[in-house]
Amino acid sequence: MEAIHTVFDGQQPGHTPVLPNDLSALYGGDLRFPTMEGRPYTIANFVTTLDGVVSYNIPGKSGGSEISGFNEADHFIMGLLRASADAIIVGAHTFHEAGLTPSWTGESVYPKAKDLYAHYRRQVLRKLKRPYLVIVSGSGQIDFSRAIFSNTDARIVIVTSEPGRVEIQRRLNGNPTFAEITPIAAPAPVTPDHLLALLWSRFDVHLLLHEGGPTLLGQFITAGCLNELFLTVSPQIAGRRLDQPRPGLVSGVEFSPTSAPWLHLLSTKQMGDHLYLRYLTKSAS
Ligand SMILES: NC(=O)c1ccc[n+]([C@@H]2O[C@H](COP(=O)([O-])OP(=O)(O)OC[C@H]3O[C@@H](n4cnc5c(N)ncnc54)[C@H](OP(=O)(O)O)[C@@H]3O)[C@@H](O)[C@H]2O)c1
Repeated sequence: MEAIHTVFDGQQPGHTPVLPNDLSALYGGDLRFPTMEGRPYTIANFVTTLDGVVSYNIPGKSGGSEISGFNEADHFIMGLLRASADAIIVGAHTFHEAGLTPSWTGESVYPKAKDLYAHYRRQVLRKLKRPYLVIVSGSGQIDFSRAIFSNTDARIVIVTSEPGRVEIQRRLNGNPTFAEITPIAAPAPVTPDHLLALLWSRFDVHLLLHEGGPTLLGQFITAGCLNELFLTVSPQIAGRRLDQPRPGLVSGVEFSPTSAPWLHLLSTKQMGDHLYLRYLTKSAS
């Protein structure tokens, strides 16, 4: 991949670079995250069309890769964020839509940078294990035949309700799994505040990567639990039917002009016709 072009970078200057030279050359600059006390610093990564669609909602073609056009730089950035994170959180729908991937790691989304990610994660960040995959599901209707559950290296936390925990146990009894799976019944409703407190205190998560979907992201934004948004803008127009709308970045909540959150632009990157934006939420600045 050629280097991503940095149009604007508003990160605070004067810090020691975090990214090794080869990764910062590809990323077009450094990548740093602050730490928080008592809860993980939470970043989200999404890709949207110009008209704000994040999923075509077509079976087998609903994921972010169809939106980005399988864009290499988008995959590279997603891999870089995964390599940086202690845990990746997804809603059950996004988990099941993500296909048959046997792992949720940087190299699984961008294999060409496997060695660069591994060196950065282990030698620079000193994170010796893979990021946790955290699946949020109220129903507990998780498909345990997915390849990731056979991966002995995978560390999976499923946060659910009490009935969901019973359903998970029932499903696990019929499916041999080899991954490390920790189901946790949280008090209903499962809130972002509770999720963050749990991941901090029980799993030592300091940097959390939110990979969607729009329903789970809407809850995090509403609760003021999102610190940053990495948003790829793909130069495509998907359109929407009135009777079967395609989701935008956020679903299930709506804001008014007075309550809508504003974000602060941290960096703008570009490759070809794609833009890669990094925003800080105002509540975090
Ligand atoms: N373009 C992109 O960057 C991007 C990124 C992510 C996702 N997507 C796409 O977005 C679509 C999925 O988005 P979505 O909004 O429909 O789904 P989602 O947020 O991924 O998942 C929704 C499900 O998560 C569980 N859930 C969410 N909040 C919960 C809570 N507070 N307590 C308990 N369970 C909770 C529920 O699972 P149960 O039904 O099991 O209770 C719910 O049905 C997919 O097509 C995906 O490919 C696109």
